Amino acid sequence: MIKKVKPYNTHESKKLQISKMFDKISIKYDITNKLISLGLDTIWRRKLVKIISLIKPKKTLDVATGTADVAIELTKIENNKVFGIDISNNMIELGEKKIIRLKLDNKIKLINQDVEKMKFNSNSFDAVTIAFGVRNFENINKALKEIFRVLKSNGILVILETSIPENLILKNIHKLYLRIIMPIIGLITSSDINAYKYLALSTMNFPNKSVFNNILLKNGFIKVNVKKHSFGIVSIYSASKP
Ligand SMILES: C[S@@+](CC[C@H](N)C(=O)[O-])C[C@H]1O[C@@H](n2cnc3c(N)ncnc32)[C@H](O)[C@@H]1O
Repeated sequence: MIKKVKPYNTHESKKLQISKMFDKISIKYDITNKLISLGLDTIWRRKLVKIISLIKPKKTLDVATGTADVAIELTKIENNKVFGIDISNNMIELGEKKIIRLKLDNKIKLINQDVEKMKFNSNSFDAVTIAFGVRNFENINKALKEIFRVLKSNGILVILETSIPENLILKNIHKLYLRIIMPIIGLITSSDINAYKYLALSTMNFPNKSVFNNILLKNGFIKVNVKKHSFGIVSIYSASKP
């Protein structure tokens, strides 16, 4: 069982709260990300895309694309057409502005779509990426089933997600950082302390690597692998569709 953590104390669904929250913090999202990750977020996204580049995909889907940083990185793979989906209009709008500025609009298409009910044909993507998206999904199993459906056979899913260090001392320092420093940075940059409290709490409640590996296996994926980075504060999972 995955504990459901929501940003706000209201009766709205997690999905609705999440789309409203990202709409609200979108303007300061990139800068806050840089600050709370000490600039490491760019390196982590590059590591994710490096794994994808090994299979030389022609068509890749970036789920929970946000302001499109992973989608943009994915265009560095030769002849790779990239689609990005997200449920926050404001995040997509900022992503689109970046894409136009970088003259990448012939290589990337961003669409407002929910991962749990995508409109893409089955077996249509060589690869799917998700960076810092999974812990925000309302129903992780539904999302993984849909991703499995749209992936081609032998296609790969690569997920970058926050995690908790295993070393006890680092674990406690990290907890302190998540509980105190991160909401303060969020408050200063985006003025929504609840959003960054939620982002910290959702990291603390995200399943550990063996639980998440099992979730991937139960949803039909094979060759499930996980590698921790930066002392275990993020993990990169990869899995294939048979
Ligand atoms: C933390 S941001 C990550 C953005 C981007 N991938 C990055 O690396 O910065 C999480 C994103 O997941 C999106 N999201 C949450 N639930 C979703 C769903 N059901 N379908 C599509 N996107 C979703 C949010 O709107 C938000 O933009």
